[in-house]
Amino acid sequence: MGFGPSFFCPASTPILGLIMYFLFQPRNPNSPPCVSSWIPWFGAAFQFGKAPLEFLEQARIKHGPVFTVYILGNRLTFVAETEDALELLRTKEADFDEAVICNIWNLKNRKNIMLKLCVYMLRQLSPSNLHQFSETLWDEFHEHVDHLGKEGTEDLNELVRQVMFPTIMKTLFGKSFGPTNKSRTEEFERHFQNFDDEFEFGSQMPEFFLRKWSKSKTWLLTEFERIVTDIKKHKPSESDSKTLVQHVLDNFHGNGVANFLLLLFWASQVNAVSGAFWTLAFILSHPSIYKNIMEEIVSVYGKAGNKIEVFEDDLRKLPSIKQCILEALRLTSPGVIMRKAMKPIKVQNFVIPPGDLLLVSPYWMHRNPKYFPEPEIFKPFCPGLERWKANLEKNAFLDGYFAFGGGKNRCPGRWFSIMETHMLVVILLYKYQFTLLDPVPKQYLDPFSLNS
Ligand code: HEM
Repeated sequence: MGFGPSFFCPASTPILGLIMYFLFQPRNPNSPPCVSSWIPWFGAAFQFGKAPLEFLEQARIKHGPVFTVYILGNRLTFVAETEDALELLRTKEADFDEAVICNIWNLKNRKNIMLKLCVYMLRQLSPSNLHQFSETLWDEFHEHVDHLGKEGTEDLNELVRQVMFPTIMKTLFGKSFGPTNKSRTEEFERHFQNFDDEFEFGSQMPEFFLRKWSKSKTWLLTEFERIVTDIKKHKPSESDSKTLVQHVLDNFHGNGVANFLLLLFWASQVNAVSGAFWTLAFILSHPSIYKNIMEEIVSVYGKAGNKIEVFEDDLRKLPSIKQCILEALRLTSPGVIMRKAMKPIKVQNFVIPPGDLLLVSPYWMHRNPKYFPEPEIFKPFCPGLERWKANLEKNAFLDGYFAFGGGKNRCPGRWFSIMETHMLVVILLYKYQFTLLDPVPKQYLDPFSLNS
């Protein structure tokens, strides 16, 4: 009995070698347990892609709170304990720019400028500066909510998106920039949707595999180049105050500005729309909370039907809504927070090797009963369980709350996004009496499908 010819075919030897290497590669005894497969480079991508949360839960049960998954040529090391995550996000050895700016946004030589811009944005969007955006935000919200009519039946997510998308665009970029007519706006939104839908894959796989994603990305980058040219040509009058993007452009020199604006726009839209949707969905599906909030709104603005103006100061008189926003984000924070190990990093008894992508999941952290008793329940302000009150007055987040990331790279738009969501909830609840026709979707139990 002989071996089949293909087994001895010289061309198959390197492939076999690769498979053997991935199956039996020597492992440092101190590095975390690794989940992979026999398929070189793809690793566990197929199992992960089918049901990510389930896959990760199984890996956590089997391997404990620190484990590595080998996917598409990358080593992804997950850290599941809150204390380890807090430590990781503080250490200098775990780098945000290498993981996010270089790896995902492909802005390899722009690390320093990105850091400068994020620090700058953080200052511009800090609680003491928010008043400069509140008037534009409110005017834009008004304009777009006015177009919605007096009554109707609509998908809540679509309703939020329709109002928030143009409002954020006009507030950050300025009224005269961005898509100018209806069909261009629709085209912009369609490409943005394609870009967001496949973002997780698009940022990790060669663009050749994702033609639609790549086409939409190119379209958006061309559009942002055009917007930059328009903004630079425009001579603002003395009385015009600068938008955030104008400030950013004053500080950005060299290549990559369109990529940065796409990053900024994506970061400002995706999480804010999903956060506002979930806040409304949770409020409307809890009648006593809905009633409580309406009483608060009426105590500030009187009975519905008046034309109201909401300034940043008024929001302080409506603290329950802010608590609902944070509680909704706690339960529905999507995705993962990423860093790259630049040096060996010790977590528990393991040493994570340099080069690993480090991932912290807010989904896991926000369900830790030590930090959030009764973690599965939406409880923004039940007596005895006041998760948010004291910390909000000090503009601080609770330990163990990762909705906006952590450490020095925590989201620079966090206070702005809370303010815009707060305003949107006020304007919609004041104008409409809502009745939910369907139960709240259960996607929030799967953080990888939250944006859909
Ligand atoms: C509810 C709304 C929002 C949520 C939940 C959110 C969440 C996050 C998170 C988790 C990060 C990563 C932080 C880290 O790695 O430690 C981040 C980064 C960032 N966010 Fe936000 N964000 C929101 C709204 C906004 C808004 C409105 C803006 C801009 C005005 C913004 C701008 C950014 C930027 C520029 C980054 C850094 C770049 C990046 O991650 O690619 N975000 N945000």
